[in-house]
Parts: sequence; C-alpha cells; structure tokens
Amino acid sequence: MEVIIRPDAAAAADLVARIIARELLAHPQLVLGLATGRTMESVYNRLVRMHREDGLDFSLCRTFNLDEYVGLAEDDPHSYRHYMQEHLFRQIEIDPRNTYLPNGTAADLVAECARYEQTIRKFGGIELQLLGIGRAGHIGFNEPLSALHSRTRVKALAPATLHQNAPLFGGEEKVPRRAITMGVGTILESRRCLLLATGTGKADILSKAVEGPITAMISATALQLHARCTVVVDEPAASKLQGAEYYRWIFENEPEWEGFR
Ligand code: F6R
Repeated sequence: MEVIIRPDAAAAADLVARIIARELLAHPQLVLGLATGRTMESVYNRLVRMHREDGLDFSLCRTFNLDEYVGLAEDDPHSYRHYMQEHLFRQIEIDPRNTYLPNGTAADLVAECARYEQTIRKFGGIELQLLGIGRAGHIGFNEPLSALHSRTRVKALAPATLHQNAPLFGGEEKVPRRAITMGVGTILESRRCLLLATGTGKADILSKAVEGPITAMISATALQLHARCTVVVDEPAASKLQGAEYYRWIFENEPEWEGFR
C-alpha cells in the first residue's frame, strides 16, 4: 500500500483523475471499476473536463460500479445508475452498453450477483478499481464483518451507513435497507486499487484502515493485502496518520510519482 498526501481535496481529486487518465491513455480498453458518493464527484468533474478539453477518450473502456441499492430502478434519482449517468457517463459520451452496475431490481438477486461476477470475469477482470471509504470503514457496501473473501452479494446496510447517506435521501428512513455490492474478495482481485479519502471526517477511519490491524470489522483494512493499492488523501484526512512524514517523502522521491508532482 502507498499513501499519497496532497494539500487539499481539490489536489487529491486532481491526482486521482490524472492517474485514471494515464491508465486510460496507456490502455484504451481499460476495465475500470467505479465508485459513487460525494468524494468521487470532484474526480468525475475532472474526468469530464479532460474529455472535453483534452479529448480523453472513454469509447473503448468498460466500467463496473461497486454497488447499487436494492429496489431502486435505474431511472430513480437516488440510484447509483442515475448518479453515474449524471456525473460521468452522459458527459463523456461512453456507450451505455459498456457501463455495468448490478441491477438492484432483478427478480432473482442471487442470480444477479453471480451474473455480475461472471461479466467482470468475461472482460478479464477489473484493471483499476476506484474506491471511497465510509465512515465505518466500508469499501463498496462491505459493512463490518464482511468476509475478506466475500464476492458480489446482497448486504444489509449498517446503521452508520444509513446515517451517512441519509442527507442524500432526505431522511434515514428513506435510505434503502439493502444493496448489491462487490465483495472484498472481488475488489482485491482488481489489478490496481485507488482509494480517495478527503476531509477531517475521514481522518479517524483512514488511520485505522491504513495503519491499523487487518480486520473484517473494517473492510478497507483488507487493502493492506493488495499488491498494488494507492491511497490518495488530503491533509485533513491525513491528520491522524502516524507515518505522514514518510508518506510525503515517498511522493517526493519515488520515481513513479515524478510525472505527477
Ligand atoms: C459507493 C461506495 C461507498 C462510498 C463511501 C464513501 O459506491 O462504494 O463505499 O465510496 O461510502 O462515500 P462518500 O464519498 O459519500 O463519503
């Protein structure tokens, strides 16, 4: 795992967008894993700008989202399909047939989860997986005690998640109780993971995820097992990291980051 600290949220989102753009330029047929949530909005803004201003081309890439609420139709304004349409897909002119999210309204949810895993496999697996982190440490909707080998499945959302997402729904009671999510094991199979966390509200959980012991109680700690995981944070989110000085040194000195400084 590598931790990269940028001065503020804008610079952190900028770095994440540039990493994605670089991978896409090198591999136009990239299989890209996507996340939703407030943190990702500024990443998608930047990717849209790169598409418009620099011609960043998404026409050959395929995308797989981490999760979708159970019971919400694609055109429901709270569905993650709708979020992706608004923040990214519609604006980068990607063929909708190349964008995949689990179907939260499938009649057979178990079969839908198996089908989603199969589709990921059919395209050779996810090459770059974008991730956020919930305040209780979930990646995707892998709530506390999610097995570190778990696969795509239906999960009940933890009270902390219902609370976190309540403002988007206008009240906790309106947040769907369940979601389909890629499993921790599914995420760990991506060739590269890229997690973005910003703001003081994430400082506590981030220090546990990065520097704490690996535990199924905090699914993000499983990323410590990943062979190529980059965690990009702003200074406020980094405020509780013990090794912050060392992480800053890495960004300034590792050849990999030369083009990004
Ligand atoms: C959403 C997802 C979640 C979010 C996390 C952070 O697809 O997978 O794990 O990334 O809940 O959400 P924000 O960015 O809203 O704090």
